[in-house]
Amino acid sequence: MDDLSKVASEVRACTLCGLSAGRKNAVPGEGPSRAEVMLIGEGPGFHEDQQGRPFVGPSGQFLTELLASAGYKREDVFITNVVKCRPPGNRDPLPEEIQACSHYLDRQIALINPKVIVTLGRFSMAKWFPGQKISVVHGKAKRIDGRVVVAMFHPAAALHQQSLRSLIEEDFRRLPEIVESALAEEARATPKPSDSAGEQLSLF
Ligand code: URA
Ligand code: SF4
Repeated sequence: MDDLSKVASEVRACTLCGLSAGRKNAVPGEGPSRAEVMLIGEGPGFHEDQQGRPFVGPSGQFLTELLASAGYKREDVFITNVVKCRPPGNRDPLPEEIQACSHYLDRQIALINPKVIVTLGRFSMAKWFPGQKISVVHGKAKRIDGRVVVAMFHPAAALHQQSLRSLIEEDFRRLPEIVESALAEEARATPKPSDSAGEQLSLF
């Protein structure tokens, strides 16, 4: 049977793409196996590669603060990335690297089965909001496969750019509300049979 530790050990030994050559440590991700919320970044940076853990550098510190502002503890969410090995010099991951690594991310999502997925930055956003712009969809939710997927700016980009920083802070503060209204909207769009029976009864 598949499990998260199996995925993690496969990731640590993986040579499916060229990023394996430059890594010190692969970074499978971490968090509870039954986390309700999953955050997906871009790829490990310097500190993450050194330690083999996701979001442990300055952007990780910022992410922990953002999570707290939404009422979540870092240790209660599962945090991972689109690619599990550090792109050299923190360059963008290439399409073929994202593709090679997607198998691990897909298995993590299937195993954890989170209610909420938060994408951090353009590369994880593109998986659920293809062809869309982060400047337009940030802070917006989509219902997909029974989950709520919310797109957010990348904390590293927002950390040093004041205009983005205010936006990401606002989006995270509103995260519980964004999730709630996505759920409420779906409940309205697909009323349960018992709801409509109730409505009919009240008509007579
Ligand atoms: N940026 C990311 O996208 N992921 C990390 O793990 C750290 C920084
Ligand atoms: Fe394997 Fe993903 Fe690392 Fe590429 S980035 S070597 S696919 S674990």
